[in-house]
Amino acid sequence: MMLPSTLWFLLLVSVLSTLVRAQRTFFPASIPLSVRSPYHNVWLISTNTSGPLSNSWPHFWGQQSIMGWAGKIRVDGTTFSWMGQDGIGNGTATVTDIEITPTRSIFVMQAGPMNLTVTFLSPIEPEDWVKQSFPFSYLSIEAASLDGASHSVQVYSDISGEWLSGNRSSPISWRNTQTGSSIFHELELQTPTPNVEIANQAQDGKAYYAMASRTGLTWQIDTDTSTRNLFASQGSLANIESNAFGPINSPFFVFALAVDLGTITSTSDPVTWCAGYVRDPSVQYTTGSGETQNRRPYFFSKYSDISSAIDAFTTDFSAAHDRAVALDQKIIGDAAKISSEYVDLASLGARQTFGALDITVLSDDKGNVDASDVKIFMKDVGTSLRVNPVERLYAAFPTYLYLNASFGGSLLAPLLESQDGLTGQQYAAQDLGTGYPLAILTPGTHSKGIEQTGNMLIMMYAHARVSGDGTLLAQHYNLTKRWADYLVSNTLTFDDQASADGETKANMTNLALKGIISVKAMAEISRAVGKDSDAQEYDSHASALIGSWLSLAESSSQQHLLGVYGDQQSWALLYNIYADLLLGTNLIPQSIIEGQTQFYGSLLTTAPVFGLPIDSSAGQQSSAAWSLLTAATVTDDGVRNQLIQGVWSRISSNTTLGAFPDQYNGATGAILSGAPSPAIGAMFSHLALTVPNTTIVVPADATSSGSGSNSKSGDGKKSNIGAIVGGVVGGIAVVGLGILGFFLWRRRRNPHDDYAEKVEFVDEIHRPSLSPYSYPPNQDAVPFPYDSTVPLAGRPSGSDFAGQSQYTDPGVAGLGTPSIPAAPRSPSSPSTNSGYAQLAYDSPTPQPLSQAGISKAREAALNRPQHQYTSSMSASSATGSAAPTASSTDPLSPSSGSRSGVGSSISPTEVVSLRAEVENLRRVMQEIRADRFEPPPEYQG
Ligand SMILES: *[C@@H]1O[C@H](CO)[C@@H](O)[C@H](O)[C@H]1NC(C)=O
Ligand SMILES: *[C@@H]1O[C@H](CO)[C@@H](O)[C@H](O)[C@H]1NC(C)=O
Ligand SMILES: *[C@@H]1O[C@H](CO)[C@@H](O)[C@H](O)[C@H]1NC(C)=O
Ligand SMILES: *[C@@H]1O[C@H](CO)[C@@H](O)[C@H](O)[C@H]1NC(C)=O
Ligand SMILES: *[C@@H]1O[C@H](CO)[C@@H](O)[C@H](O)[C@H]1NC(C)=O
Repeated sequence: MMLPSTLWFLLLVSVLSTLVRAQRTFFPASIPLSVRSPYHNVWLISTNTSGPLSNSWPHFWGQQSIMGWAGKIRVDGTTFSWMGQDGIGNGTATVTDIEITPTRSIFVMQAGPMNLTVTFLSPIEPEDWVKQSFPFSYLSIEAASLDGASHSVQVYSDISGEWLSGNRSSPISWRNTQTGSSIFHELELQTPTPNVEIANQAQDGKAYYAMASRTGLTWQIDTDTSTRNLFASQGSLANIESNAFGPINSPFFVFALAVDLGTITSTSDPVTWCAGYVRDPSVQYTTGSGETQNRRPYFFSKYSDISSAIDAFTTDFSAAHDRAVALDQKIIGDAAKISSEYVDLASLGARQTFGALDITVLSDDKGNVDASDVKIFMKDVGTSLRVNPVERLYAAFPTYLYLNASFGGSLLAPLLESQDGLTGQQYAAQDLGTGYPLAILTPGTHSKGIEQTGNMLIMMYAHARVSGDGTLLAQHYNLTKRWADYLVSNTLTFDDQASADGETKANMTNLALKGIISVKAMAEISRAVGKDSDAQEYDSHASALIGSWLSLAESSSQQHLLGVYGDQQSWALLYNIYADLLLGTNLIPQSIIEGQTQFYGSLLTTAPVFGLPIDSSAGQQSSAAWSLLTAATVTDDGVRNQLIQGVWSRISSNTTLGAFPDQYNGATGAILSGAPSPAIGAMFSHLALTVPNTTIVVPADATSSGSGSNSKSGDGKKSNIGAIVGGVVGGIAVVGLGILGFFLWRRRRNPHDDYAEKVEFVDEIHRPSLSPYSYPPNQDAVPFPYDSTVPLAGRPSGSDFAGQSQYTDPGVAGLGTPSIPAAPRSPSSPSTNSGYAQLAYDSPTPQPLSQAGISKAREAALNRPQHQYTSSMSASSATGSAAPTASSTDPLSPSSGSRSGVGSSISPTEVVSLRAEVENLRRVMQEIRADRFEPPPEYQG
């Protein structure tokens, strides 16, 4: 009989498919760990030459400076690292799997007999802007015995002062606070500098490390070696804080929280740390009428102080996790209808897109907030300091439309309000200035009139159409009308316009099309606000323009669209067709889209490995954002999947450093700009097309005036989250991995061998990370690839070069073999640090410590005689040098100050026995850190 053997076969297949989990297939070079705002942006570098999470440090933006963040677990007295690279403890956990969802990065590891699940959750809270605007993330760990036996388990994590500044010799101070429901560490710069950044990090925020109160919780603020060694030796901390306020890096102080779980077979609840970085005010916005507003994070509309907000966050983990899982399931389920590659792109892009935003409320001089005045600011993260960069906002818009269109409204509001009173300028501005977080419109001419005006009109109508809120349309009607009139006269033919990508060819079909769709959008805007004669006028303009455009834009064979009118060799990704579909303006005939789809299909047969360039004259310049908008326009699923595949191949390539880039070389993968750019919000292009539109309602009190505040709150706004559907991905048992893990556990290596290995890869990673970048903000027609040889002195004052470091050459990053200095450098070499100071930032130079600015308590601490840091800081103050000397700051050298002042409970003999080994490690660490400060390689175009 055939039947039984067929059944056996099917049974075998189904058993095997549950036993063998699908291999991990997605390998981005950077994995988001804690990405919540432009200045709270922590990633894991995940290349073949980097270590696993359990054996490497996270980095800012996934390519820049180290962000000290360590994690350890102690099992039956043996201590394993699960995050960080300090060499302290008995070994490192073995990472067996990584899963990336829109809100979470989940690492499965094995530490001795325990299976660990380490989850980094950066919430995306489309429904609740109090929660969305609270720049904290969760890090939780669960452990389960692999051998069935129970084990004594303690877990530990800390952050360092590196979260506070890109200038690692900046002096910091700190305090520990215990509320009724939480314990948290708060750290800050002693002399914060408002609205300035160094190496992309802000200089005016406070960092937090918090945990909900629970049994077995201990904490400590002390040097990295003391604190971590104490945990490794006894499994708990001393509940003490050092008062030895000093520079971030000499020595590194850490802010630690540990939990003794007792003897367990598995954790009943996750142990959850909460990491925050808060700037308050977060944005300084100058209105159209010249009023300067210090705007505070939105969450202050609910919480009057940080403690109560932290309490709410720490105790909300379980519910926040449930919300995150539901949101992930919705996004993954919807994206899976396209392809598994598309699921990966949407999953990796979501946190990056939201991580570029600051949601703000108006505040008076006393800090009282007006929750009815909500504005959102986007930083051009990864490329420049531009504020609400209009073309990036346009690229990102699909994400907001899909998750809650009100985000889009509050992002448009400051751009509209700033321009409402301006007369004389016929087209839209490009941004709110080039000095994030200073948001101020710079009126003046530029060459992206069609591009940015079109983007504004398309986004305004898209927002209104999905949210149903016509307030902005009514408030800014005259402004929009002026813009539409500009497009009517200019968009069909031109030879003085630049595209979003800085191309300046005359008569670019894709750019002209954007303007025409925008004229049609204006017709719909007019209709929505009851201006029917205007609507008819713009309707007839739009249909005349699209008729002319089609006759100019089609190839002579009438098979496809040209890139430039009349140039039969030219072509382009006609990504602006996406707006026609998104808005339902239906200007482009289906037959044209079908022909264009076929044409893309033929181009794709010879496309570079990472996808088509943006057009026929762009060399190898590819754009993830424009590729994904294009993919959402085509009529053939095969072509669609190929367009997605090209981007996926680049994003899943771990041979080039950097978070998800927007623009890259399609052949080599070298990043041209935008890692990690919010333009990646374009990954949601297909999802946004599934969002239903609704009737636009114009509130009675909305008038056409520039001064009306935009009263949009995210709370309780309509949204699409209600229809959460299944689509669970993953969750299949991992027996194969368990067996693998067992073998890896059996051949756990000598920790010193581990250490030697990781030194090599850190060197490789760090060397190129300060390569300077050169996008001249607000300058049109930026050539590609960006020329990084523009002198730093040429930058506008007030903007900081380090905010624009670009990583470019994949050979240097992941594949090359950079030379490693043979001899260890002495720790804290002053020349090394001052070299960094000169290299990494032209403005401002490191702030000398101002005694006047220091509070009484901190003064007392500074004057405490037994502390070695005092002398080094005053030396630093006197000379203006950022670099303390090694001998005066090294607490582990025999001549340094007594540790008794900080109440360390490590016995002196333990310290002595650890000293030689630790000192050795510290030298290596210093060398690693110093190497980051070496001059960057020249960009080789
Ligand atoms: C890098 O990608 C390759 C596949 O291209 C994969 O085999 C490898 O494990 C990845 N490395 C890391 C560290 O993820
Ligand atoms: C772990 O490290 C500590 C300190 O170096 C050492 O005393 C202990 O014996 C080690 N444990 C194991 C299992 O190797
Ligand atoms: C743009 O296209 C129009 C219409 O074909 C043409 O008259 C004009 O010369 C073109 N401009 C340039 C600079 O080629
Ligand atoms: C808008 O334009 C109309 C017609 O030109 C004018 O009457 C009205 O005053 C304008 N509104 C504002 C607020 O400028
Ligand atoms: C470890 O935990 C993960 C859940 O995070 C689970 O999927 C996996 O099967 C576990 N591994 C083993 C070997 O039990």
